[in-house]
Amino acid sequence: MKRAKITIIGAGNVGATCAHWAAAKELGDIVLVDIVDGLPQGKGLDLAQSGPIERFDARIIGANGYDETADSDVVIITSGIARKPGMSRDDLMSTNMKIVREVTRQAAARSPNAVLIVVSNPLDAMVFTAWKESKFPTHRVVGQAGVLDVARYRTFIAMELNCSVEDIDALLLGGHGDDMVPLPRYTSVAGIPVTQLIAKDRLDAIIDRTRKGGAEIVNLLKTGSAYYAPAAATIAMAEAIIRDKRRILPCAAYCKSEYGVGGYFVGVPCILGRGGMEKVIAIELNAEEKAMFDASVSHVKELVAWVEKNWA
Ligand code: NAI
Ligand code: 2OP
Repeated sequence: MKRAKITIIGAGNVGATCAHWAAAKELGDIVLVDIVDGLPQGKGLDLAQSGPIERFDARIIGANGYDETADSDVVIITSGIARKPGMSRDDLMSTNMKIVREVTRQAAARSPNAVLIVVSNPLDAMVFTAWKESKFPTHRVVGQAGVLDVARYRTFIAMELNCSVEDIDALLLGGHGDDMVPLPRYTSVAGIPVTQLIAKDRLDAIIDRTRKGGAEIVNLLKTGSAYYAPAAATIAMAEAIIRDKRRILPCAAYCKSEYGVGGYFVGVPCILGRGGMEKVIAIELNAEEKAMFDASVSHVKELVAWVEKNWA
């Protein structure tokens, strides 16, 4: 069977950690790309040398150009600047839009059939940017945010209940901003509705901490943002696509009529398989949930309007 090929653009914290998870899972051959001379080559070689110890077979190469990326099945975009304390994700907009446009143009030209997974922030604007620049069909462009945000939510619930994270199922909608929408009505612990196990004031505090989960880590690290969980989340998406698992994961996916969004990439549950985003799963929202979702989508629309206005 032909081995899958994964290009990861940006060999910084998130990109290199994505390469680590992808190699450990033997998802395929990996090309790590960065503008910094030697960085992707060095990290690629170092990671390859952990293969004999961890017993994985993966060809990993680093590059400063794109010829080596040709015919990738999945292209993961993590290049760009990360936020520092006091910055919001939106503060990264202008710099990262230029970077994401350039890397998308280069990668899409060499891998016209790939699925793009965008990670760079502000996520909801950058997934739109990558889609517009690549001219790929909407189902072959997805953004990673929801898998991470749900993982944070599940982690905090497990900490509260002192139980395994494995038993927590949860869902979250909307953009990757502080107005994301965790859904207690769709959260359960071993099948038990979470509202039966955690009092409302504690659950509200967990939801608030989830919404600010990225900033909490930025404030601790001081020099950058989270990368272990973001990379694990990204590779869960890549694995669903490469292994055609048809997993239902919350992704920034293109919604036209779905959820009444009207043509934007926003966080919704969808089926990920070989073709990329294969189906948006529609769920019922009550009035309060719908109002929160609409507020989050309005923010996404503002970001996209900024991208459109500044597209030269
Ligand atoms: P980092 O600074 O560690 O790595 C970014 C890398 O991109 C650097 O190595 C840099 O040289 C490279 N780069 C910059 N311009 C480039 C270009 N034109 N071509 C190729 N490579 C280029 O940053 P980190 O922590 O890896 O974060 C990367 C991005 O991911 C940031 O925008 C961050 O906000 C975002 N992020 C998004 C998350 C999400 O859930 N969507 C979670 C975590 C981070
Ligand atoms: C996070 O949520 C920075 O978006 C990134 O950690």
